[in-house]
Amino acid sequence: TDPVDQLSAQLEKLGSLDNYPNCYPEVNPQDIYRAHITSILHEITGVDHTIIYNALQWTLSLDKGDMVLAIPALRVKGKPSELGQKWLEKWPESPLVEKPVLNGPFLPFFFKPGPLTQMIVPTARKLGREFGTNKANGLKDPSDPSKGKKRMLIEFSSPNIAKPFHAGHLRSTIIGGFLSNLYAAAGWDVVRINYLGDWGKQYGILAVGFKRYGNEDALAKDPINHLFEIYVKVNKEIAEEKEEIERLQKDGKTAEAQKLLETGTDEQARQYFKLMVDGDAEALALWKRFRELSINRYKETYNRLNIQFDEYSGESQVSEDAMNEAAKSMLEKGIAEESDGALIIDFSKHVPGKAGKALEKPIVRRKDGTALYLTRDISELLNRETKYQPDHMIYVIASQQDLHVKQFFKIVELMGHKDIAAKVQHINFGLVLGMSTRKGTVKFLDDILRDVGDYMHEVMKKNQDKYQQVENPDAVADIMGISAVMCQDMAGKRINNYQFDMAVMTSFEGDTGPYLQYAHARLCSITRRANLSEEDIASADLSLLTEVHAVNLVRVLSQWPDVVQNTLRTLEPTTVLTYLFKMTHVLSSSYDHLRIVGSEPGLMKSRMALYDTARIVLNNGMRLLGLTPVERL
Ligand code: ARG
Repeated sequence: TDPVDQLSAQLEKLGSLDNYPNCYPEVNPQDIYRAHITSILHEITGVDHTIIYNALQWTLSLDKGDMVLAIPALRVKGKPSELGQKWLEKWPESPLVEKPVLNGPFLPFFFKPGPLTQMIVPTARKLGREFGTNKANGLKDPSDPSKGKKRMLIEFSSPNIAKPFHAGHLRSTIIGGFLSNLYAAAGWDVVRINYLGDWGKQYGILAVGFKRYGNEDALAKDPINHLFEIYVKVNKEIAEEKEEIERLQKDGKTAEAQKLLETGTDEQARQYFKLMVDGDAEALALWKRFRELSINRYKETYNRLNIQFDEYSGESQVSEDAMNEAAKSMLEKGIAEESDGALIIDFSKHVPGKAGKALEKPIVRRKDGTALYLTRDISELLNRETKYQPDHMIYVIASQQDLHVKQFFKIVELMGHKDIAAKVQHINFGLVLGMSTRKGTVKFLDDILRDVGDYMHEVMKKNQDKYQQVENPDAVADIMGISAVMCQDMAGKRINNYQFDMAVMTSFEGDTGPYLQYAHARLCSITRRANLSEEDIASADLSLLTEVHAVNLVRVLSQWPDVVQNTLRTLEPTTVLTYLFKMTHVLSSSYDHLRIVGSEPGLMKSRMALYDTARIVLNNGMRLLGLTPVERL
């Protein structure tokens, strides 16, 4: 029978679903259990459905049960253990859940294996790539889908053109890509924005440098590295000229020093950038070409990470008018004040206590009228609000910029935009330590990925038997290398710093990207070798899956939709990754006990259905993280 029919039959016994908040059994079979346990507890205790439903918690490991209730969470008067005793006396026989055994103040619930398997395996196989997602999460009104989806803006990656793509950008890219996938899976309308560092005097420097050293072929072939080379070269010249000027001044050659000041490279760059600000078409044309070539090159790299941006915004895209407007408004509202010809905000006057002091006294407009990084972010935020009317906005920026982000969020609030301030969120993260490439100290994203890919290739070659069977070792090593980098990045909590360690991240042992890839490839290989038809698997007798290993695997697999729900709360990639490692450990310990080859046909089919479910969950989890699951290794 259809899994949904089975679920509906169970549901009829529960009464109206309205009693249970966020109950979506069609996509999350565990919700049936949550609702069922809630209805039992409601009968016994009389406590409100919502309170019970929300109090049912996940467990940390299978031996603690499939769900657990902390008795005090129901807010009933009395000693928890005594309440538990009393409730258990009235506990009815359930088709789904074993009668709990009191554990201190906790009631642990163990699901009966039979029905769980009957629900999970068909549901996961029916939903396939969608298993774990719940599009209702992103609806403006879950009870009325016609009102449409909520919109999420996620700004991430945001490198600076012609400068190295450093570890901070790498982390922002990985975490931002993951969050975009997460919200898309939850049914939000996600807009991915890349806010490039693409404006400022350095682009004048670059233009002057390009006129001296630029090479069209090199630019077309490798814009990012070529521009960076020029940038380094011309900056060196500027530094040398500066020393020269100081020397001339020291030697009393004031006129010569003055001449160099007025005609030197630095001044040329300043004038060039001034032309850009004034909208000079010719000056802008060169800069525009640098920008576009760099973006095209970045796009290739982002594709390797399965990331596509909806908008390449950037500091250059914020209009001077908008910033003048914002500055004027800050002045009029008494938020900003003049200081030495510049415009500053003294937060201690607007935010009481320690918090105000901590926000310091940033400048929002320079003496010469030029705008700053901070002011641009304010205008850009107001601009995004008008352009997209989002329900929520996330900025994925390194914790080194915590103060900057706090400042511009607060300024927008002080300007009277409380509604906007209420929907912006900073997702920050710690440092990567010890990241350098073999080539040198400059770290472009491509260099990093190539280095890890090479290293991965060496690791794979060590197992020659297997290596010989890989069809396209270069491509596989590349994907594996990327997985290695990403999993190391997502293994811990975002805020923690971590050590960039190629040997550790590329190992097949331990909780690494290659380990996950290996687990996935193994499931694919089992599927290929069993070579069963879809009908065979669909008609499998799931009641044959009685071994402890099979039951435990089903139990972990059934947690997947809940893991995604939990991740929407933590916004931590490690929530997903930790689960995938837990699941694959249960999986790998079950292979010896649940063989396919050599089993009789009935058992073969049912085990295949189970492994297929595991493959779906692993594949979905890996793609949620932004990895590309490989099928052969
Ligand atoms: N381009 C900046 C940097 O490399 C990061 C931009 C972060 N985003 C923002 N809205 N300020 O440091």
